[in-house]
Amino acid sequence: MKPIRLLDNRLANQIAAGEVVERPASAVKELLENSIDAGAKRLTVEVESGGVKLIRIRDDGYGIPKDELALALSRHATSKISELEDLEGVATLGFRGEALASISSVSRLTLTSNVEEQESGWQVRVEGRDMEAQVMPAPHPVGTTIEVKDLFFNTPARRKFLRTEKTEFSHLEEVVKRLALSRFDVGFTLRHNQRSIHQLRPASTQAEKDRRVAALCGPKFIENAVIIDVDVSGLKLYGWVGLPTFSRASADLQYFFVNGRVIRDKLVGHAVRQAYRDVLYGGRHPTFVLYLELDPALVDVNVHPTKHEVRFRDGRTVHNFLF
Ligand SMILES: Nc1ncnc2c1ncn2[C@@H]1O[C@H](COP(=O)(O)OP(=O)(O)OP(=O)(O)O)[C@@H](O)[C@H]1O
Ligand SMILES: [Mg+2]
Repeated sequence: MKPIRLLDNRLANQIAAGEVVERPASAVKELLENSIDAGAKRLTVEVESGGVKLIRIRDDGYGIPKDELALALSRHATSKISELEDLEGVATLGFRGEALASISSVSRLTLTSNVEEQESGWQVRVEGRDMEAQVMPAPHPVGTTIEVKDLFFNTPARRKFLRTEKTEFSHLEEVVKRLALSRFDVGFTLRHNQRSIHQLRPASTQAEKDRRVAALCGPKFIENAVIIDVDVSGLKLYGWVGLPTFSRASADLQYFFVNGRVIRDKLVGHAVRQAYRDVLYGGRHPTFVLYLELDPALVDVNVHPTKHEVRFRDGRTVHNFLF
């Protein structure tokens, strides 16, 4: 056995990246969540080669001040929580302070940002290898632009797991779709290899929301769905549920959001399946876009590094309510 040593920063970040950055789509998820947490109302995502060559995300959020730019890229650096109690009622999508450190350890990352109080923007660049971030002036309106180039250029083992450009892009598009379904008040633009894929304006009226859902889930879904809106003792459920006649052979049109976060959850899946049980043929899957809202203190969001899972404090009540 070799002696025990502390891992250097870069390696520790690369290992942590293994958990959250599986492919370009996961980087896009983290970056868009950051923009949303920063109060952005317009998001532009431009990618090349399925996101492997380039991911560029521009937002009009409140930005990052010059003296915090380098810190934003460090591990365990976050503006979203400062003590354990904050974690119990966390209202932001991020809180781990790890995403940018992870992404920047496995890519060539440029972060440019400007805040209200500054006259001009500033930029930091890191290239996986030397994590020393150089800060230099760069013109930018209030908000942030992040460019991630050559994902996994320094982690060949990870790169080998990447699929074709088309497959990577379809994962990435799915991520954008989920976030666009989670926030109707935010405008989204997605471009791939200079081609416009989605252009979604902020939606506030029911008709505008229907239009966005139709653009993302297909017009047939909206034509065959009913809107539900139920509010019982602190639990609120709203959204669209597909008619039993609009079932699918696979569970590919099922979106469930808990306090704005898209999740996959056994308990939720079970409750919905049960509810459809008597009206669906065996082997068919219901379709739905549903939003559950409840006191954040009643859900634990810190159970999985990618935050795709949550734990309800009172699972039985949630199950019964959904059913
Ligand atoms: N687009 C952005 N606009 C404004 N601030 C940002 C943006 N992206 C990142 N930040 C700042 O950088 C910090 C670090 O971001 P990072 O994604 O690494 O961590 P986090 O969002 O706090 O937690 P998590 O790892 O769970 O995503 C954030 O807490 C936030 O203050
Ligand atoms: Mg984050």
